[in-house]
Amino acid sequence: MKNVYKYVLVGLTTSAIVGTALAQFARPDAAIKYRKAAFTVMGTHFARIGAVAKGEVPFNKDEVAKNAAIVNTMASLPWQAFGPGTEGGDALPAVWSDESKFKSNQEKLIAATASLTSAANSGDLDGVKKATANVGAACKNCHDDFKKK
Ligand code: HEC
Repeated sequence: MKNVYKYVLVGLTTSAIVGTALAQFARPDAAIKYRKAAFTVMGTHFARIGAVAKGEVPFNKDEVAKNAAIVNTMASLPWQAFGPGTEGGDALPAVWSDESKFKSNQEKLIAATASLTSAANSGDLDGVKKATANVGAACKNCHDDFKKK
């Protein structure tokens, strides 16, 4: 009986030391892999909308709406994987030294992808084009300051 409690206590102490950042990831490289994967999926589906906005691919409302929903979902995922101790990948040190700016860039992206979803669901191509430009700007603004070229 007593031993069981001992193991529970050891477990709790260990997770307190590792902290909240890594609570969801076994190791820092797992966090980096996760965020890169989230960006890759977001970028892939955003590029499909970009091709429509540029007129390279014919406008299909349902396809754009599906891609926008994926982009919108992915837009909230990478950030949990930038906790303390996960420095690396192509992320610049500014991610950890200027957290408030990094956070405000995340919020701008999330707002822009929500607008893109609305435009996509309404089937308005001009609206989709404008919203796509806004999302693209949100990606670029953050990459300029927080991602290695
Ligand atoms: C709030 C900041 C921020 C925003 C907004 C942002 N990114 Fe990024 N992005 C990063 C950082 C930081 C990295 C580097 C991550 C790493 O290597 O650990 C990155 C990496 C990437 C990568 C490379 C993934 C890999 O495998 O190395 C792609 C692709 C990408 N972002 C696409 C996008 C797209 C598309 C958008 C907009 C829809 C976007 N990002 C918005 C910060 C951002």
